Amino acid sequence: MGNTQITFIGAGNMAASLIGGLCKQGVNAEHIRASDPGVAQLEALQNAYAIKTFTDNSLAVKDADIIVLAVKPQIMRQVCEQLAPHLTEQQLLISIAAGITSLSLSRWLGANKIIRCMPNTPALIQQGVSGLYATEHVTAQQREQAELLLSAVGLVVWLDTEELIDAVTAVSGSGPAYFFLLIEAITQAGVKLGLPEDIAAQLAKYTAQGAASMACQSALDATQLRLQVTSPNGTTEAAIDAFQQGGFNQLVDTAVRSAASRSQELAQQLSS
Ligand SMILES: NC(=O)c1ccc[n+]([C@@H]2O[C@H](COP(=O)([O-])OP(=O)(O)OC[C@H]3O[C@@H](n4cnc5c(N)ncnc54)[C@H](OP(=O)(O)O)[C@@H]3O)[C@@H](O)[C@H]2O)c1
Repeated sequence: MGNTQITFIGAGNMAASLIGGLCKQGVNAEHIRASDPGVAQLEALQNAYAIKTFTDNSLAVKDADIIVLAVKPQIMRQVCEQLAPHLTEQQLLISIAAGITSLSLSRWLGANKIIRCMPNTPALIQQGVSGLYATEHVTAQQREQAELLLSAVGLVVWLDTEELIDAVTAVSGSGPAYFFLLIEAITQAGVKLGLPEDIAAQLAKYTAQGAASMACQSALDATQLRLQVTSPNGTTEAAIDAFQQGGFNQLVDTAVRSAASRSQELAQQLSS
């Protein structure tokens, strides 16, 4: 990221993961700042990465090229309105808060170089995936910088329209919980078949990890991989048939659509 100065407003879980990822990638700690009212969070970051820390957001954004807004959605308006008089026209603002539209951010900040980002929890272990949407005022160089920054915690995908952020929230933002639910259900089924709970849990978790790694690394898509391991009249086919007869695909579709609708509702409430 060269000499790009990055300031994090809010030094909680997400900011700490991004800062950790950036430092691991070799970004000079001199170029990273974090601002938060919580002194304990700031001390932890200072001790771990030797970055500069602030308790005053307005001082932290001075001369920053990129400002990452990493506070809870409920306090975003207040934080933005307080920052507004301290911003310059060229600064890039990246919001990782769920549900706050670029229009609201732009109104509250009095700025227009805005990127919205929806990361997910595996970002905490640098294995996340983030959907990014840039407003038309963001320059090509700023898009590149945002992509580099978010790649510190995982894969980055760009979205052409802001509405798609709700779909990203429904697929990958809330997605880790769907896989946790499946791991829970498979563990419980294993226990019912007589496995000790800890062994059933290990089998379910590591199967999920192995399958996800195969799906990410293989040139084949998920359907082809599934068909490859599903022999006619075999054990896997028996399970897949039961899933399909129980309406599994329809259920997943309904669940993901529910998350997207809820994301839209929350966005409306938070942006009003
Ligand atoms: N965690 C995820 O997986 C995830 C996924 C997608 C999106 N996000 C979004 O990322 C954002 C941050 O999430 P998080 O999990 O990192 O939350 P978090 O751990 O609660 O971090 C937010 C931080 O902001 C601080 N803060 C409160 N008021 C502030 C102010 N006026 N100025 C500066 N900092 C202030 C909080 O301090 P106190 O604790 O002292 O209040 C806290 O340290 C949220 O908007 C969330 O929607 C998170």
